[in-house]
Amino acid sequence: MCGIVGYIGKKQTSSILINGLSKLEYRGYDSAGIAVLDENGKMNVSKSKGRLANLEGKLKEMPLNGTIGIGHTRWATHGEPSDINSHPHTNSNNTISVVHNGIIENYLHLREWLTSKGYTFISETDTEVVPNLIDYFYKGDLLDAVMMATTKIEGSYALGVVCINEPDKIVAVRKDSPLIAGIGEGEFYIASDVPAILNYTRDVYYLNDKEFVVLSKNGIEIYDAEKQRVNKEVHHVTWNADAAEKGGYEHFMIKEIHEQPKAFRDTLSSRVVPGSPISLDKITLTKEQIENINRVYIVACGTAYHAGVVGKYVIENLARIPVEVDIASEFRYRNPIINDKTLMIVMSQSGETADTLAALREAKAQGARVIAITNVVGSSVSREADDVIYTWAGPEVAVASTKAYTTQLLTMYMIGLFFAENLNTVSSEEIEEIKVDMLKLPELAEEMLTHKEVMQKFAVNTYSHKDMFFLGRGLDYAVAMEGSLKVKEISYIHSEAYAGGELKHGTIALIEEGTIVIALATQSDLFEKMVSNIREVTTRGAKVLGFAAEGNTEIEKTVGSAMYIPKVKDILLPVLTVIPLQLLAYYIAVQRGCDVDKPRNLAKSVTVE
Ligand code: M6R
Repeated sequence: MCGIVGYIGKKQTSSILINGLSKLEYRGYDSAGIAVLDENGKMNVSKSKGRLANLEGKLKEMPLNGTIGIGHTRWATHGEPSDINSHPHTNSNNTISVVHNGIIENYLHLREWLTSKGYTFISETDTEVVPNLIDYFYKGDLLDAVMMATTKIEGSYALGVVCINEPDKIVAVRKDSPLIAGIGEGEFYIASDVPAILNYTRDVYYLNDKEFVVLSKNGIEIYDAEKQRVNKEVHHVTWNADAAEKGGYEHFMIKEIHEQPKAFRDTLSSRVVPGSPISLDKITLTKEQIENINRVYIVACGTAYHAGVVGKYVIENLARIPVEVDIASEFRYRNPIINDKTLMIVMSQSGETADTLAALREAKAQGARVIAITNVVGSSVSREADDVIYTWAGPEVAVASTKAYTTQLLTMYMIGLFFAENLNTVSSEEIEEIKVDMLKLPELAEEMLTHKEVMQKFAVNTYSHKDMFFLGRGLDYAVAMEGSLKVKEISYIHSEAYAGGELKHGTIALIEEGTIVIALATQSDLFEKMVSNIREVTTRGAKVLGFAAEGNTEIEKTVGSAMYIPKVKDILLPVLTVIPLQLLAYYIAVQRGCDVDKPRNLAKSVTVE
């Protein structure tokens, strides 16, 4: 994972690098560091284990002056979090400094080979081979040396490189790890992601694999692997810097939960219009191609995978096409059956998740057509898929995904309806009713947010528990999985999601006096069955918070506390049901004093396998 940033211009670079890193901390926060070239061409490096604040403290005591520099925030893969393993890494002679996001898979071999050539290593990282390899190939041209080094490296990388022999430039390159270049006035940037430079510019180049960038005070030059100049389109980012700030909220997560009504409006706007067919941007998939599809794979990781579980239900029900939903890291190695009748939908908030991207490439290589659903314009999945549908959720900074999940659900409905319209699998009246209800979701989400005290109160009563169980059937089971993940990832409470009917096949053995159970019973056709499951756990002493659709007050006979979800078509209820679950997880984590936005051991964007 990790985040990298680089600046060249007229201003002091340290504070710009630190500001950029503060926006990239979501990518990892095991350590941070910067390398700055001063006006005499001397390279100074400062790095520190732990949060960025530690590095800032160091820089206050010993500032680094200079107008060219690179920075890094780390999520440790090779070597424990420590000062020595922190980036930037330098070559044995301290002439070249490198920041790296990715994994050098053949680093042991390269390290051995470089050691035989007299190079020495001080860290346990894979990255340290890179500055030494560049040094080995350096014959007076940094770009050539970086190009040569990348011919020897296997794995994934976004690299930012500075060298004291050429103190007027930064060289950068990417392969399978994200990298953008930013254009300011007489100043230029590299970064892993847009928010890192949003305070300074909104004009960016999205770089492709094996594109090399040379940043100088005069501009940006981009080259391909044959050293031919590449002319790229400049993208103007429409997010503003405020969107990536907390805006008065205590944490990004709670801010992002509250942004859902707006995110819903933005995602639905102009795509779902009563009386008109669903409009999926510039989708190129034709009616004939849709008729040809005999299997859909939805492939994703984590929360996006949970949105896919809802998607399977939705697409199968609306379009009557068989859908398999897969965890990307499993899909890519399980030799799935793929042919030209296969449609793959990859879902990824960041669009950079390594396993999701690898699964996309695998499926494409075998002839599948791919639709990407992502929140990040220009991200790798968006560029490699045949079609892209954006979730217009705006920047999601908290590690725990909230508004990205609910907007991913909206895209699942839109795809389901789009297919149904093309395949005539659902009556036009039914389609219209779903559309009308979808357009109510922003307002109903606002209403859900007004009930936050109920969740706050439940959190106060439950935060000290060690275990929590989420139960549901059908779509509620899919939502239970997401609710459970939210609790475990930010509050570190052990939590499991179970299909109501599966409980008696083992897990019910864990239910005892006082066990906390969140029971989702919003689906009308499964309500009675869920009520039976709730009885099974209350009889054994569980304390249950039950969720039902408005009007189903029957649930109060079986649960300790009840929460009602506004009445819309059952198929759409997951979008609303998950909101109180997000709030519950948030308030539990706050009660437990956890670092809500940056939970331990995690990073927002998992760009390594
Ligand atoms: O960027 P992506 O949507 O591909 O990320 C996938 C998962 O890493 C992500 O959803 C993760 O599970 C979140 N921490 C969940 O809150």
